[in-house]
Amino acid sequence: MSKKLLIAGNWKLNGKKKDISFINNLLKLNSRKLNKKIEILICPPYTLIDKFCELTNRSSISIGAQDCSENDIGAFTGEISASMLNDLKASYCIIGHSERRMYHNEGNDLLNKKVLSVQKNNMKAILCVGESLKDRKQSKTLRVLGNQLKGALKNNINPSLLDIAYEPIWAIGTGLVPNFSDIEETHNYISKKLKNLYGTKSNNIRVLYGGSVNPKNVFPIMSINNVGGALIGGASLKINDMKSILKQFI
Ligand code: PGA
Repeated sequence: MSKKLLIAGNWKLNGKKKDISFINNLLKLNSRKLNKKIEILICPPYTLIDKFCELTNRSSISIGAQDCSENDIGAFTGEISASMLNDLKASYCIIGHSERRMYHNEGNDLLNKKVLSVQKNNMKAILCVGESLKDRKQSKTLRVLGNQLKGALKNNINPSLLDIAYEPIWAIGTGLVPNFSDIEETHNYISKKLKNLYGTKSNNIRVLYGGSVNPKNVFPIMSINNVGGALIGGASLKINDMKSILKQFI
């Protein structure tokens, strides 16, 4: 595969100033050999983005946010816009993580506006999609994914500033991972949908897998057809787990 795997850490509501040492450790591990195969992305809380961008400035490690406002500027108390993130030199923003969909009632129309705002500010959006356990048990997985993609990717989305993360909700933070054949089925389906939408321009969109990725399962999962990277929560907070994940790609 020509495109690099994207190994992305989603820190969620974790991370303080002392965690600057995490980035320094990661920088020590980063090498040209590693960079040939993978791209490393860390998405800390907003409070650490500025510092992390400064520390990784001369490296190939990318820094991103976990969400942003759909608005650019104005009376929206508590919000952070994509242009503010771009101002800090963040280069990615996760959009539509299931925890945003669940706890903040974010729906596809809003997520579409957020993706557009991220792209307008020259950052890449990582749009998350995924089914609940109920959906899976009722064999609705592909239908749910199709609707999420259709709803969030309307209105002239730019495929060159887009990656997708497939994260089955029931696999997030639970230690459960779908059968590899199920991961392959969903990734093939998502890739086919992207091809229908964007033709050959979809070739550079990576479809990441997320949900209980750890040092033991990362390599076999990354070897599945149409898996273009990993979105990692819990394991991305532990420097030893991250090191052991990354070392497998050297
Ligand atoms: P997890 O989280 O790796 O802890 O399962 C993944 C995610 O929520 O992005």
